[in-house]
Amino acid sequence: MTKQISLTGIKPTGNPHIGNYLGAIKPALELATNYDARYFIADYHALNSIKDGKRLKELTYEIAATWLAFGLDTDKTIFYRQSDVPETFELATFLSAFTSKGLMNRAHAYKASVAKNQENNKEDDLGVNIGLFTYPVLMAADILLFNTNVVPVGKDQKQHIEIAADIAQTINHNYGKEVLTIPKPLINESTDLITGLDGRKMSKSYNNIIPLFLPPKKLRKLIMKIVTNSQGLEEKKDPTNCNIFSLYKLFTTKEEQDALAKRYLAGGMGWGHAKQELFEKLDLFLSPYRENYNNIIADKDSIDKVLAEGAIKARDISSETMTRLRKISGLR
Ligand code: TRP
Repeated sequence: MTKQISLTGIKPTGNPHIGNYLGAIKPALELATNYDARYFIADYHALNSIKDGKRLKELTYEIAATWLAFGLDTDKTIFYRQSDVPETFELATFLSAFTSKGLMNRAHAYKASVAKNQENNKEDDLGVNIGLFTYPVLMAADILLFNTNVVPVGKDQKQHIEIAADIAQTINHNYGKEVLTIPKPLINESTDLITGLDGRKMSKSYNNIIPLFLPPKKLRKLIMKIVTNSQGLEEKKDPTNCNIFSLYKLFTTKEEQDALAKRYLAGGMGWGHAKQELFEKLDLFLSPYRENYNNIIADKDSIDKVLAEGAIKARDISSETMTRLRKISGLR
């Protein structure tokens, strides 16, 4: 039986953190064992907000090195830069002809920008570029180009996948044929459970992240900043309602968790001790990946080579899709 196709795009936004690892990287890499996986760096999506060329280039390397450091296998998974696949942009233009403007008006990211402008008594579209407005069309092109069955994403991206499915259905209906595969979102609910330094969901926008590849000293310093209540050393502590403990659970065995819970409940263990325990476990887990990352990022030519090889494989598929669409639509 041929495997189903899983595809996801990673927007290079900088400073990947443990929430990204647990919520996106780890599940996507696991999925790659049962699916034909196609994972790419969505650099054209990032261009909407990052106008500094040097920085965009650097961020692309960082994201590539991060995924490679965690063991993405480029023999089994097609791994590429979006900008290396020109068919993406041809398909985006094609899809635009089948996408109503109203559908874009209703997209969350655009609506949020308009709402923010209205709150501040500004013109609706202030600061909104066409790239942001048509973001879902480009994303639909990424997905539909590769005959994608499932798209592993966070909840915030669900609507985008539904829009892609919607556009594909319109096109299939128009030509009376299943020219495009209808994609489905595969939502990882657990991302909401990954708390940041302040106990809220870990997110760059809350400024509460734990980056993946900090040197140990800096990692320790950051862990020591985790917000706790003001209980003193001797007091008994509640592991079920503690930012340190909820992070600890993500990187330890059941036995280790039970042991730490016991110490919480016994009293006589201060927050500093709990943080130290967390730091040690986290550092133990991260250090081999940190080493991989540092080696990979030091050799950008190799990253370029890996991505160029991925692009060749990607274009085999994408050019086939475009040929099919050009034919059926009378373009060629
Ligand atoms: N919009 C996604 C994000 O911000 C990134 C992305 C671009 C993507 N193209 C995609 C995700 C295609 C899945 C499929 O996270």
